Amino acid sequence: MVNSAPNPRVVSGMRPTGALHLGNYHGALKNWVELQYQYECFYFVADWHALTTGYEDTKELEENVFQMVVDWLGAGLNPSASTIFVQSRVPEHAELHLLLSMITPLGWLERVPTYKDQQEQLKEKDLATYGFLGYPLLQSADILIYRPKFVPVGEDQVAHVEITREVARRFNHIYGRESDFADKAEKALKRLGGKNADIYREFRKAYQESGDQSALEKAGVLLDGNTRLTLADRERLQGYLEGTGRMILPEPDVLLTRTPKVPGLDGRKMSKSYGNTIGLREDPAQVAKKLKAMQTDPARVRRTDPGDPQKCPVFDLHRVYSAADTQAWAAQGCVTAGIGCLECKKPLIDAIVVEVENVRARARDYEQDRDAVAAIINDGCEKAREAARETMQEVRSAMGLQYR
Ligand code: TRP
Ligand code: SF4
Repeated sequence: MVNSAPNPRVVSGMRPTGALHLGNYHGALKNWVELQYQYECFYFVADWHALTTGYEDTKELEENVFQMVVDWLGAGLNPSASTIFVQSRVPEHAELHLLLSMITPLGWLERVPTYKDQQEQLKEKDLATYGFLGYPLLQSADILIYRPKFVPVGEDQVAHVEITREVARRFNHIYGRESDFADKAEKALKRLGGKNADIYREFRKAYQESGDQSALEKAGVLLDGNTRLTLADRERLQGYLEGTGRMILPEPDVLLTRTPKVPGLDGRKMSKSYGNTIGLREDPAQVAKKLKAMQTDPARVRRTDPGDPQKCPVFDLHRVYSAADTQAWAAQGCVTAGIGCLECKKPLIDAIVVEVENVRARARDYEQDRDAVAAIINDGCEKAREAARETMQEVRSAMGLQYR
């Protein structure tokens, strides 16, 4: 294969909740940073999504978007490696959302688990809106518009990627059926060139006759790496390969993020709404103070009382931050009352302070230079729009909306 394939693309978004905490970092952001040199990454602030569960109070939106992007940069997202942008600045997401809404059965949205769950849990919010019902579809549009291979998310978002795949399949099924599909695919194959066309045919046969998955994969790579094909022809050849129609919106896969349990200061899950967080850019002295006061195993009243690490949120933090030997030291010292809780917390405090200081150091220049952050976002929005526009042209023309 002559052309080397570009890195596979990933897309993920985060709601703008303002300054992030350690739970956000270990649950998602850290993973984003790790992905950026292996994949072509599109990361965006899902500001419209924030409106789906809170349309009334928008005063803090702008500041929340800004602070979150500063956290991303502080955590090590590199704007020359990743495309960093804001959802509402790429209006093509809204156009695709609208068009997909035409083909999406209501039942699919009503059955998304978060729909009923959140309505029951967040009683203080008005979730009886069209926007809230539709937000998983907005998420589908966010994803499909970049035609990514993977969507890195935690367990809680898997259902949303699943509905995204269903919507893509339905779209391709309805709009990917050209009457002269096979003819067009064969013509595209000629453009691939003799040798590559032969290889493609072999892979296609292996997949269609004996379901050979690796042949399917390899043929996909062959198409992705070929710069002679137009986007439309690549869609045809991908569909021809799999025995479907044109694949205008490929189905992405979940790239499941391992999300460690990050307890908050009171032992419940770290969450802004519980007010039990440690900020990713919080002042180190403040971080140390909070950790010293953090809840431990309630059975350890006196220094001489043995404790149970399994009942202690501090030990959960050790699992996130400490190497195996330190964890063993803490567990042993706990059950034998050999160490006190403050002593147990010491290595943890050190590790967290270092982590926070690194983020602060990288974020410092951006905090003071809003224009630099705005420039990064502008640049990212431009790049994202370019990719989004390309998909929308395909979508419009497949739907018969190409006249203008
Ligand atoms: N719904 C996601 C969340 O609440 C955020 C999100 C919006 C997202 N659009 C996305 C995640 C697209 C991945 C891909 O966390
Ligand atoms: Fe928790 Fe450590 Fe105290 Fe045990 S010694 S209760 S693990 S803080």
